Amino acid sequence: MRVSIRKASVTDIEALYEIERECFTFEALTKEQLISLLHDADSFTLLAQVNDEIAGFIIGKTYKTKDQLVGHVITIDVASKHRRKGVGRKLLKALEEIFMENGVEVCCLEVREDNISALNLYRKEGYEAVGKLEGYYERAHGILLKKQLKTP
Ligand SMILES: CC(C)(COP(=O)(O)OP(=O)(O)OC[C@H]1O[C@@H](n2cnc3c(N)ncnc32)[C@H](O)[C@@H]1OP(=O)(O)O)[C@@H](O)C(=O)NCCC(=O)NCCS
Repeated sequence: MRVSIRKASVTDIEALYEIERECFTFEALTKEQLISLLHDADSFTLLAQVNDEIAGFIIGKTYKTKDQLVGHVITIDVASKHRRKGVGRKLLKALEEIFMENGVEVCCLEVREDNISALNLYRKEGYEAVGKLEGYYERAHGILLKKQLKTP
């Protein structure tokens, strides 16, 4: 199995939107939100291809706080038939690389407290829970996770 990662463009929108709807029932991004993120200069959308088929994607955005540049993982989506093949891990690592190339020191994200697959992935990749987000999702609480990418 060959997994390759590349930057996404607006021409990939139909595939991205289909995977987004497959992955999220209540919290799916709209097509307009995805397009806006694809055009946003501070956002990075990477997609994974498995044998030339789009299998998943990740979107991250950077923002400045008072003293550092933070990378925020907005979403990570892998189509059901391509899960448990290492695609999610590859996407996350590729986004972290891009964040670091852009001077990001800390990466953060939110996850539903009942999303075991995502929680396992993030923990294995070195993310730590730093807070509970009460009522963050429509039907669940969230957890805020953080990972230090570079020693400041
Ligand atoms: C979470 C998600 C991105 C993982 O993608 P994936 O390509 O299947 O993940 P990987 O194959 O790279 O797995 C990496 C690790 O994640 C964990 N993991 C992934 N799927 C899991 C599952 N179903 N059950 C338990 N752990 C799981 C494992 O620790 C795995 O490591 P291992 O294979 O060495 O055991 C995928 O399940 C998905 O798209 N889910 C729906 C969307 C979503 O919930 N996104 C996260 C929002 S915060």
